Amino acid sequence: MAGDMRSITLTINGRQLSRDVETRLTLADFLRDHLDLTGVHLGCEHGVCGCCTVLLDGRSVRSCLMFAVQADGHEIETVEGLSTDIDKLHPIQEAFSEEHALQCGFCTPAMILRTKELITNDGELSREEIREQLSGILCRCTGYQNIVNAVVSAREKMHDPQVAGR
Ligand code: FES
Ligand code: FES
Repeated sequence: MAGDMRSITLTINGRQLSRDVETRLTLADFLRDHLDLTGVHLGCEHGVCGCCTVLLDGRSVRSCLMFAVQADGHEIETVEGLSTDIDKLHPIQEAFSEEHALQCGFCTPAMILRTKELITNDGELSREEIREQLSGILCRCTGYQNIVNAVVSAREKMHDPQVAGR
């Protein structure tokens, strides 16, 4: 039986859309099941692993801990929104690929979005600070060294005027 329904309007990866959703629907399930944005990965589903991280108004949130209705009026970015050109990786994706910063890839969308947030908002963090800032996302393959390398490399790429703004 359907629960309480509410109409929401939000911007997802630059596109505004409206949907009627159950008030109990999580943001993660809304993105995955209603919009096919399966780059949102569900691990623990109770706020521990961080793999469901998306950006809400540019800041990372765990989408398994939010209801879709709480995102009403906000802007959401998932990993699918990073590159507008299907043939060209975003500089952060390039850096993760070049630095071998993914193994099974389960944590990767969350790591990439968190990297974007760090580079955009938090300036010149040291390697130790980057490690600390990423610690809310668990990589079960334990590839943290290469992930930190990728963040540093992505930051250099993003600050390069030739690739910035891609
Ligand atoms: S699935 Fe959301 S924190 Fe683990
Ligand atoms: S690459 Fe496998 S969980 Fe991080």
